[in-house]
Amino acid sequence: MIIENRIAVITGAGKGIGEAIAYGLAEMNYQTVLIGRNRKNLEQVAAEIVNNGGLAPVIFQLDVTDTPKMKETIQSVISQFGRIDVLVNNAGVYFDGTLELAESEFQTMLNTNLTAQFTLTKEVVPWMEHQGSGYIFNIASRSGKTGYAGSGGYCASKFGMLGLNESLYHELTPKGIKVTALCPGWVNTQMALDAGTPLKAEEMIQPEDLFKTIRYLLQLSPTAIVKEVVIEAPSGIR
Ligand SMILES: NC(=O)c1ccc[n+]([C@@H]2O[C@H](COP(=O)([O-])OP(=O)(O)OC[C@H]3O[C@@H](n4cnc5c(N)ncnc54)[C@H](OP(=O)(O)O)[C@@H]3O)[C@@H](O)[C@H]2O)c1
Repeated sequence: MIIENRIAVITGAGKGIGEAIAYGLAEMNYQTVLIGRNRKNLEQVAAEIVNNGGLAPVIFQLDVTDTPKMKETIQSVISQFGRIDVLVNNAGVYFDGTLELAESEFQTMLNTNLTAQFTLTKEVVPWMEHQGSGYIFNIASRSGKTGYAGSGGYCASKFGMLGLNESLYHELTPKGIKVTALCPGWVNTQMALDAGTPLKAEEMIQPEDLFKTIRYLLQLSPTAIVKEVVIEAPSGIR
């Protein structure tokens, strides 16, 4: 069967890392599906993709923690395109603190950074199983590998994401579906600034580096799999 266009669903595609991944996948001729809460940001990214000659993206303005809406969205993508080739679980939030966190902040991080990835992956995987192929990228963090003082809630959500990633890696690989977690240190986005990065913009990992990692992984042969990739900013190594 000749697949005319490969379909890539990207959460948090309106800015930062998700935006860079959306541009990159569109350049690789993927039909992109952009998800986020801020419609204006998503529309700007879509316009930029079209200006650069990419396929017009489909936009879904939604909160990834809204499970019913998320399920509806995936059904709608399948009705329109019949398949999903790449899922990028990227949407995430950061609140400073460990025990200083309000329970609601802790819960919001778990809901956004972990439960939403579970829900979306659960909706998408049956379609990938049906196709016998697919690639799931989980944008985790260096904070999923190491616990840092002052960000225990965020670390808990990202450690959880890596646990989910590793189980899925074992379960889905035999079905022809690849699963990789990307674990970057400081990336030059608004989140890093809000989280008080000590690095200057030019010292950080750039959002495009995450796309370049994805591109490299997508180009590997079906017999090569990678569970996770840890990416450091040289000035951020302690
Ligand atoms: N920047 C770093 O240093 C760094 C390092 C390691 C890992 N990460 C991870 O990389 C991912 C992207 O972060 P970033 O640095 O690009 O941050 P960012 O610039 O703040 O972008 C976060 C993205 O997530 C989306 N988002 C947040 N909550 C959402 C929700 N409830 N529903 C739908 N979309 C939601 C935002 O879109 P809307 O506002 O439109 O909803 C936005 O597009 C996150 O998972 C983050 O934890 C970042």
